[in-house]
Amino acid sequence: MRILLCGGAGYIGAHAYVVLAERGQDVVIADNFSNSSPGVLARLQRITGEPVPFHPLDLRDRGAVVDFFARQPFDAVVHFAALKSVGESCERPLDYFHNNITGTLNLLYGMQAAGVKRLVFSSSATVYGDPASVPVREDASLQVTNPYGRTKLVMEELIGDLCGSDAGFHAANLRYFNPVGAHASGLIGEDPAGIPNNLMPYICQVAVGRRERLSIYGGDYPTPDGTGVRDYIHVMDLARAHADALDYLVHERHNLTVNLGTGQGVSVLQLVNAFADASARDIPYQIVERRPGDVAAVYADPSLANRLLGWQAELGVEAMCRDAWRWQAQNPQGYPAA
Ligand code: NAD
Ligand code: WQD
Repeated sequence: MRILLCGGAGYIGAHAYVVLAERGQDVVIADNFSNSSPGVLARLQRITGEPVPFHPLDLRDRGAVVDFFARQPFDAVVHFAALKSVGESCERPLDYFHNNITGTLNLLYGMQAAGVKRLVFSSSATVYGDPASVPVREDASLQVTNPYGRTKLVMEELIGDLCGSDAGFHAANLRYFNPVGAHASGLIGEDPAGIPNNLMPYICQVAVGRRERLSIYGGDYPTPDGTGVRDYIHVMDLARAHADALDYLVHERHNLTVNLGTGQGVSVLQLVNAFADASARDIPYQIVERRPGDVAAVYADPSLANRLLGWQAELGVEAMCRDAWRWQAQNPQGYPAA
């Protein structure tokens, strides 16, 4: 199959590129580098041993998107391209609506005009908001708690409407929980611009000496050690699920919405301790006020993905920390300027 990875230069897209290329797929990356570095392309070439087909493309430009699809045949699209910072989305909601929602609409227009009828979409556990109970199943009620989350929910809905209008169009909504870790080579990994919002890249930057100490947001949650509990999932397990979802769309010809998590809740303190062990570094921290909008505990029931895709997470917290640390230690400042 010839597969387009929109936003494929980003953290998760780059790892999915490796898995798909290893499975012998013909993979093309399109990105505008708004939150990624061109340096990832050379690293992907080192890992796969092949040149990486890349096209600059901004999904906000509908004309360019439609033109792109008219010139290039694809069998499927994996759509990673979005802005993803919850805090930033509260400050700049319109930019998030424009980039994520209009960008997705433009992508769907381009696909429709070119007759491309398979889509794997990067959704998020954020669509569950503050779930009534854990582990969370896919039929839990959906809630919006911030503009970023609204964009994910709207994107799922508009993809669903398109599926409803065309029995030949099939989509997989993959609801990621908390992706962490890196490819075992240490050549690609998460490289956030500025101060990391997410826990694992912050810990990595403390370990490598770029930040003094971690602030743990809240030590008084109703969890076993008082810190927030999440479902961290190794990015290589996550990447594999994209290849499995594409197979499902081809062979089963059904739509799909599945959680991608391990099913295990891990607290902030547990992750900090596991990282300290894996890296043999101290991770200084202080417990501070809760972060507004955070919830106590969210973790997945991943059994539907197991049943429908035959997928399950294989890598545990130790591998997540070891691989994240290898990437950070080998690349203390992230990707080199291309
Ligand atoms: P990322 O920012 O590393 O990757 C997204 C990529 O999309 C970047 O390379 C960026 O340059 C590109 N992009 C953004 N807007 C674009 C546009 N208008 N046109 C072309 N390219 C554009 O993020 P990631 O962590 O790899 O996440 C990938 C997807 O998974 C996103 O949709 C995100 O919302 C979703 N997701 C991420 C997480 C997470 O914690 N990382 C969790 C759940 C869901
Ligand atoms: C994890 C835990 C924090 C940073 C976010 C988005 C979600 C999804 C994944 C895209 C929480 C604590 C964090 C820090 C801390 N993204 N923490 N100190 O909030 O579960 O999910 O990313 O879809 O939509 O909301 O992930 O990594 O930010 O936080 O104590 O410096 O770590 O309070 O308990 P979160 P996170």
